[in-house]
Amino acid sequence: MAKVTVVGAGFVGRTTAVRIAESNLADVCLLDVIEGWPQGLAMDIRHSAPVQGIRVSVIGTNDYAESAGSDVVVVTAGMPRGPGMSRMDLLEKNAGIVGSVSDRVKQTSPEAVVIVVTNPLDEMTFLAAERTGFPRTRVLGMAGILDSARLAVNIAEELGVSPLAVNAMTLGSHGEQMVPLPRQATVDGRPLEELVDAQTLERLFNRTRNGGAEIVGLLQKGSAFYAPSAAAAQMCRAILAGSGEVLPVCAWVSGEYGITDAYLGVPARLGRGGVEGIVELELNADELAQLTHAADAIRSRCADLAKIDTPAGG
Ligand code: NAI
Ligand code: 2OP
Repeated sequence: MAKVTVVGAGFVGRTTAVRIAESNLADVCLLDVIEGWPQGLAMDIRHSAPVQGIRVSVIGTNDYAESAGSDVVVVTAGMPRGPGMSRMDLLEKNAGIVGSVSDRVKQTSPEAVVIVVTNPLDEMTFLAAERTGFPRTRVLGMAGILDSARLAVNIAEELGVSPLAVNAMTLGSHGEQMVPLPRQATVDGRPLEELVDAQTLERLFNRTRNGGAEIVGLLQKGSAFYAPSAAAAQMCRAILAGSGEVLPVCAWVSGEYGITDAYLGVPARLGRGGVEGIVELELNADELAQLTHAADAIRSRCADLAKIDTPAGG
């Protein structure tokens, strides 16, 4: 049986663990720094086994030794952005956490594929790749599936159709430089651009771009976790099944779309080795310019990591 470790037993981590366990995808190790917390949550999940038909093992721990030899490690450790917190504050705080988690993953699960969820997503994915030293194909980030799903739901709600009738994808960064692809989007197989006007499209894109913030505003405390965990679990499934499924993820780009050396939201073929190929869609000049701009912005934000002292995790 394959093994997935989820680091961080907060809202996203514990929900990801439940989704993996309930689909009997892999044995699950839930790991957190807070003593008792992952153990209690794992026990609670185990108690649901007879009801939910869970056949995999689910353990909770504070010790990386118990996570050793994982096939996939999902990193959700770190805080969500709180009120009054600047991007730099969050970067500093979570870089310390993701840096030390990466060091421990490198020691204990050297063959793992690492899926980063912690924000700021693009920068934390870059940091995890740097600190593990793993081939970049084995370190990827979760955002594009979530943003694409949010866009599909926004389109569906606007048009009064099922979200399953909508095909939509976003590329770029998780946040300001999200690149929606209206030309590629369809509803019941019909081009989206034939169904809504440009102003409506822009409103739907903005709502998608701000989807995370809209939920934070409603919750007042914490951020989204149902859809993020569904997206992380889908990535685990594609990787462990070696499905070759093409999903929008934050992946290392080296030449595709004419862009080099950046973690960026792009469609990627996922398999046992992580990212097994980046799919180059036919973008027009404007879409390509937006994607290049997103890559430049991410690269320059990643440069801020050099200003931060991130202690080694031992
Ligand atoms: P949370 O606060 O509920 O959970 C974070 C957990 O990390 C806590 O249980 C904490 O004890 C743990 N933790 C802290 N330091 C640790 C360490 N060194 N080792 C192991 N565990 C450690 O937060 P939540 O809601 O689960 O979000 C987690 C992260 O995911 C945040 O940074 C959030 O912004 C991000 N996120 C990213 C999304 C994306 O689209 N990429 C979507 C949703 C959340
Ligand atoms: C989200 O998009 C906060 O990144 C998180 O929900």
